[in-house]
Amino acid sequence: MEGDEELIFRLAAPSDIPRFPLLIEVSVRGLSAADYSASQMDQALGTWLGLDTRLIEDGTYFVVETAEGQLAACGGWSRRRTPYGSDHRPDRDDALLDPKTEAAKIRAFFVHPEWARRGIGSHILELCEQAAQAEGFTRLEMGATLTGIPLYRRHGYVEQERIELPLANGETLPIVRMSKLL
Ligand SMILES: CC(C)(COP(=O)(O)OP(=O)(O)OC[C@H]1O[C@@H](n2cnc3c(N)ncnc32)[C@H](O)[C@@H]1OP(=O)(O)O)[C@@H](O)C(=O)NCCC(=O)NCCS
Repeated sequence: MEGDEELIFRLAAPSDIPRFPLLIEVSVRGLSAADYSASQMDQALGTWLGLDTRLIEDGTYFVVETAEGQLAACGGWSRRRTPYGSDHRPDRDDALLDPKTEAAKIRAFFVHPEWARRGIGSHILELCEQAAQAEGFTRLEMGATLTGIPLYRRHGYVEQERIELPLANGETLPIVRMSKLL
C-alpha cells in the first residue's frame, strides 16, 4: 500500500450498508467515464453495479476507511454462485460453491476517485484471495467491468469471455469474465 495516510481495512458490518450507495456512485461516475457512457452508468448503478448485502452477512465484504471514518473503498468475495450484481439483480443464486470444483467469486470493488491508484484495490484483492484460499478454493473469477480489467490483469487474472449485460433501456453493459488459479 502506498500513501502517507493511515487506512483501516475491516469487514463490513450491517451498519455500513446505508453508506455504500454514495461511494459506489461516486466511484463509478468518477472512474468509469472513459469506459461507459453516462446512460450506461445511469442504468447499471443499483442493478448490475451495486451492493450485494449477502456478502456482508457472509463476512466476505471489506470496507476501507480513513482514521476520520471517511469511506475510501469497498470490495469482497463470495462462496456463493451469484457471479456479480447488486441485491436488485434478477436470478440470484445463493447456492454455495464447491471449493474443489468451482471458482470463488470476486465481487463489487469500488474505490473512491480520491483514493484511486494507491494500491487499495490491490490490497482488498489480496485479502479476498487469502480468505478464499483459506476455505479451500483454488480458482477465483469475476465479471470485471472494463475499468477493472487492468487491476485484475496486474494480479494474474486472464480474460475468458466478454458478456453483454442487458440494461432496462435496451442498451448493454459490457463486462469481461476473468479467472485465476491460486
Ligand atoms: C478498478 C478499481 C477498483 C481499481 O482500484 P485501485 O485502488 O485504483 O487499484 P490499484 O491502485 O490497486 O491498482 C493496481 C494496478 O492496477 C492497474 N490499474 C488500476 N486502475 C487502472 C487504470 N484506471 N488504468 C490503468 N491501470 C490501472 C495498474 O497497473 C495499477 O498499478 P499502478 O497504479 O502502480 O500503475 C477502481 O478503478 C474502481 O473502483 N473503479 C470503478 C468501479 C469499478 O469498475 N470496479 C471494478 C468492478 S469489477
